[in-house]
Amino acid sequence: MKYQTVRDVDIKGKNVLVRVDYNVPMKDGKITDDLRIRASLPTLEYLLEAGAKKIILISHLGRPDGKVDMSLSLSPVADALRKMLPEQKIGFYPLPKKDELVTNYSDANIILLENLRFDPGEEDNSEEFIRNIINSAGADFYVQDGFAVVHRAHASTDAVAKFLPVYMGLLLEKEITNLEKVTKDPEEPVLLIIGGAKVEDKKPLIEKFAKKAGQIAVGGKIAVDGYEGGNNIYVAEDFDEDGSGAKLDVGPVSMTKIAGFITDAKTIIWNGLMGKAEDPAYATASTITAEMIGEKSDATSVICGGDTTGFVENLMKDHKNLKYSLVSTGGGAALEFLLGKDLPGLKVIKHQ
Ligand code: 3PG
Repeated sequence: MKYQTVRDVDIKGKNVLVRVDYNVPMKDGKITDDLRIRASLPTLEYLLEAGAKKIILISHLGRPDGKVDMSLSLSPVADALRKMLPEQKIGFYPLPKKDELVTNYSDANIILLENLRFDPGEEDNSEEFIRNIINSAGADFYVQDGFAVVHRAHASTDAVAKFLPVYMGLLLEKEITNLEKVTKDPEEPVLLIIGGAKVEDKKPLIEKFAKKAGQIAVGGKIAVDGYEGGNNIYVAEDFDEDGSGAKLDVGPVSMTKIAGFITDAKTIIWNGLMGKAEDPAYATASTITAEMIGEKSDATSVICGGDTTGFVENLMKDHKNLKYSLVSTGGGAALEFLLGKDLPGLKVIKHQ
């Protein structure tokens, strides 16, 4: 089954409600990684070029739990968008109040509404909440482009489909196309590289892939903590240590072995850093992994997980030669997709 995308709908003169995921990391009110904002631009540019009258963007940020918390305002994102799209008039508005029909979104052609999760209606999957937004926006149809949030059944990902036809945005299409490529009938050999610290998040993925043919390489704290290896599961065996004996990076013996897997692979999924990579002294294994994958031209590669994608994006700034099929914007959503779970935000998209 193929999803209908923004390319399948007449956009000229229409008001388009677009769900993006602008849940970006922030420190002291400043965005520290703008991947998710940049990744939303192709759809916005496509809609503008195709003659959309108005684009109304909706997103959440953090987990304010249905209450207004101005430290989680999307206002810095509106500023970032203004810098990225200097030719557009970008308005930033509060959410419409209960039963309020907002009619003054007229001064801009792109409108970003405030954090959806300031209202309990979002996480309650409230039809009333999203209907208010749809009516205020005068939306003709809805585009789901927030890949990172498609695993949530919330008003802006699920209930919205009761009122508007749903099309896939270009970011979501890119994510799904690449994730399907590496999971459904992937080119072999397949390599899954797992690192990071949270074993409970990663174990189901390792177990699922262990059942398929393919190689799994485990590094990061999960390996330090003694993840059990097996037939096709290789767990790092030596580590670089600090003065106190703490194992903070995958060592050269293991990295040589993992490098061999990377060289052979035709499909690579990487989730989780190999060591404490925020400290340059322990970023060697993660850097080698990122560079080797990014320099391969004969493999489909998917990088996922916020720490890993942030690391790779940083490296790419100075190493323009590094190329990946997908640096995924989805954390939990990517994991759930790889595990083969049903994603509510995908279910509601029209099919061809
Ligand atoms: C994410 O960052 O994974 C998404 O934005 C979803 O956020 P959530 O886990 O708070 O629903």
